[in-house]
Amino acid sequence: MSDPIRVRLTGVGGYLPRDVVTNDDLALKYGIETSDEWIRTRTGIAQRHIASGDETTASMAAKAARQALDYAGVDASEVDAVLVATATPDQVFPAMAVQVQALLGMTTGFGFDLSAACSGFVYALATARALMQAGQTKKILVIGSEVFSRLLDWTDRSTCVLFGDGAGAVLLEASSEGEEGILSTHLHSDGRTGDILYVDGAAGCASATQQLRMQGREVFRHAVVKLSQAVDEALAANGLTGQDIQWMVPHQANLRIIEGMAKKLALPSDRVVVTVDRHANTSAASIPLALNEAVRDGRIRKGDLVLMEALGGGLTWGSALVRM
Ligand code: UT7
Repeated sequence: MSDPIRVRLTGVGGYLPRDVVTNDDLALKYGIETSDEWIRTRTGIAQRHIASGDETTASMAAKAARQALDYAGVDASEVDAVLVATATPDQVFPAMAVQVQALLGMTTGFGFDLSAACSGFVYALATARALMQAGQTKKILVIGSEVFSRLLDWTDRSTCVLFGDGAGAVLLEASSEGEEGILSTHLHSDGRTGDILYVDGAAGCASATQQLRMQGREVFRHAVVKLSQAVDEALAANGLTGQDIQWMVPHQANLRIIEGMAKKLALPSDRVVVTVDRHANTSAASIPLALNEAVRDGRIRKGDLVLMEALGGGLTWGSALVRM
């Protein structure tokens, strides 16, 4: 049975900080005991963008959102809701989404943030779709915006080389016609694995480093299994096989994980959108940034079937299948 209200993805946008830091910069300028060869071989990363003082989670989110609105030809005043997925808000409250409303000049609608680490964008898509299908909203901005550079331990080479900053956004619009839109979302979390990828502390916690810690190998092991599960669910729920997928737009953590998932789906590499080489891991921003790039350069076209998947701290993981 088709959805009563279809939730179409009509706009894409992105913002990357001005400053680019290469792997060699990390070794030579930042004095980190690492090498371009190690980082490329283990992760596929060659460089990352790092935010300057004026580039905040809210300001980058608003810039990405503005692009998505322009792409769709929609004015900010028409938007009913703003959802920002982020693990790196600029402040505890007001929510980044509310600040984005102000930056866009919105005086109506509502906004809130959502915390699901690197899976945040997939979680936000699912939440926005449910809000629309409840009949409360017709146009929602879904944004992933992160400044992970501000919570990295720059003395820990096993994590600080992996992440970058940026923001990506999509505009979702309710429609009663056509076959396009979000076909399914599948979300999971398991708090028992909270200690393999986390940032300790928050406003209510007195003693904390507020720095990211990760047992990389353990997270890698979980990623392969859990992403496969989320992808299988998406295919089964829609009566599809890997052959039906035109594009995979995965969370960009590690090229080896991305290639493993493509192999599972028997997708050739030119059907997989990869940005991890240039953006590194931008957490909740990575999928919308990759989507923005591939839509704007003409790879992903109207009617294409796009599979998104992500895994992050929690652990959280999930998938979304979208007919563009
Ligand atoms: O977005 C959230 C989800 N996150 C992920 O999906 C990340 C999943 N994990 C990974 O991508 C990989 O596990 C990493 C890229 C983080 C690490 O790759 P690995 O192949 O699992 O390496 P490892 O952590 O087992 O480290 C291997 C060696 C160690 O040296 P010894 O003990 O073998 O002598 C590390 O000390 O590499 C060393 N090492 C480094 N060497 C140079 C760790 N970091 C670095 C570094 N430069 N930056």
